[in-house]
Amino acid sequence: MCGIVGFTGKTQAVGFLLDGLERLEYRGYDSAGIAVLDGGLKIEKTTERIKNLMDKTDNGKNVSGTIGIGHTRWATHGVPSFENAHPHTSSDKKFAVVHNGIIENYIQLREELKADGVEFVSETDTEVVPQLLSKYYEGDFFAAVAKTIARLEGSYALGILCTDCPNTLIAVRKFSPLIIGLSDNANYIASDVTAIVSHTKDIMYIEDGEIAVLTPDGVKLYDSDKNEINREPSVIDWDISAAEKGGYDHFMMKEIMEQPNAVKQTVDSRIKGREIVFEGLKLDEAKLKTIERIDIIACGSAYHAGMVGKYVFEELLRIPTNVDLASEYRYRNPITNDKTLTIIISQSGETADTLAALKEAKRLGSHTLSIVNVVGSSIANASDDVIYTWAGPEIAVATTKGYTTQLSVLYMIAVWAARLLKSADSKRIERLFDELCRLPELIEKVILEEPKIKEMAKKCGDPKSLFFIGRNIDYAVALEASLKLKEISYIHSEAYAAGELKHGTISLIEEGRTVIALASFEELFDKLLSNVKEVKARGAKVIACATEGHTEIAGEAEEVIYIPKTDPLLIAALEVVPFQIYSYYVALYKGCDIDKPRNLAKSVTVE
Ligand code: F6R
Repeated sequence: MCGIVGFTGKTQAVGFLLDGLERLEYRGYDSAGIAVLDGGLKIEKTTERIKNLMDKTDNGKNVSGTIGIGHTRWATHGVPSFENAHPHTSSDKKFAVVHNGIIENYIQLREELKADGVEFVSETDTEVVPQLLSKYYEGDFFAAVAKTIARLEGSYALGILCTDCPNTLIAVRKFSPLIIGLSDNANYIASDVTAIVSHTKDIMYIEDGEIAVLTPDGVKLYDSDKNEINREPSVIDWDISAAEKGGYDHFMMKEIMEQPNAVKQTVDSRIKGREIVFEGLKLDEAKLKTIERIDIIACGSAYHAGMVGKYVFEELLRIPTNVDLASEYRYRNPITNDKTLTIIISQSGETADTLAALKEAKRLGSHTLSIVNVVGSSIANASDDVIYTWAGPEIAVATTKGYTTQLSVLYMIAVWAARLLKSADSKRIERLFDELCRLPELIEKVILEEPKIKEMAKKCGDPKSLFFIGRNIDYAVALEASLKLKEISYIHSEAYAAGELKHGTISLIEEGRTVIALASFEELFDKLLSNVKEVKARGAKVIACATEGHTEIAGEAEEVIYIPKTDPLLIAALEVVPFQIYSYYVALYKGCDIDKPRNLAKSVTVE
């Protein structure tokens, strides 16, 4: 949530700040602001989008200064308003701060500062930070920062300016993402690489509790005891085009279309001959053989990927597998131990609840393996093992390629472990392996249905509500398809295990209600067909998805999308695609803001 940027260099700061904020806008878009230092602090804010900040500043032409910070907000404390927009300043206007995260003890700090006579102008938790800086400042910027962060509880990534140090930008982080970009002419901070990659590919990661001091000539890094640390920069290996729309109207459609390639990258990079090799994995054969239970923990779509994982693991490994929402797991005194493998799934690698659940599982002795898309992210760093999805940057708030690449990794883990454990029929495993390698071309085939799906979406209109039903893996996909539709089109939709309909939900079915029946899991096709008949008998209009050859369903459904035949366990990665496309077009015809749906943000770094 929230995006932060900062710049100190030999050229004007504002160009980077506005461009960087625009690239980070997917992280939060309730309001935005910049502060540039040129003699004193110059602050520009908007309660609209970054575009408005650009208009207000004549594309930055009327803001001069070679050092600055910027912020795009996803509101937590205080409504989106001008006063609550960042940067926040101290009353004496000596310090300006941008913040991502939550200062959990802000009420106590606020009361303390109020007792000192400080007057607050915003409702935010952040404003205590510049006020504390001012309180502790005795002519040493670094010392004031160190004293201030020692008082903060919660999570933060901070970019800080001080008017007495006209070239120095200080950055700190704890449980919120922040990276540094390095170049000859300037040094940068940003919440993620998308803001930096067009300026430099040399980056440096900051760890929790470290303090980074940036000037135009270099960056110094200190640990929490103020000792200087030497850290080698890393080089980002992706190009700026990966973070641009590349001719598409929206990132979401671009990312849907990128799925065959993203899955290919994710799978192919682990295949050596017929072997699946996860480089550097600590979970070896001996450890795997001690595992008695698997817990999969994640949020949102990543949780839905985990639901698919449960069906796949239980079928192939015969190991009991639980799937947990991270926000539930972390607070329910979970039962786990060293015989449990905890798989953490997160595209961003920064989701606060998922990170906390991971730490809890680890503390309780479980072996933690994360499936993450962002290299060097907090979840990747905190896990015993990490397997990256090579999806490339995902910018649209609604995940697509993040989800399908997570599925690919889960499939790979299942095949890899089933071979070692000899827990499933070896012929099936080898066929599954072959099909896994074919997934990119199968997804490509589904994408070819786009024109037909677009026509179907045109007919959807704006119903009050609709339903997705499915059984087994179809049910897991129904959850994801339903989330996709509701988050970007704002149409209420629910996913039900088809067998549950009779236990209450069927009362919601009435004349004209759309039911989307996912019927690709062949073993249960007939059962699903019966459920379709039941809802039709009550007036529902049915859209179906089935595997090629199951034409019987065409007699019951108004529209059918067929996906290629493959191993039943793999259908999730195919079946979800038509409904990503469907949701996209339904939202487009409704005129919704597809890449930045209301109230949402890409990376949920607060709980
Ligand atoms: C929905 C979506 C979210 C995320 C969830 C977890 O389209 O993207 O539900 O899946 O917020 O995010 P990560 O995977 O970054 O932990």
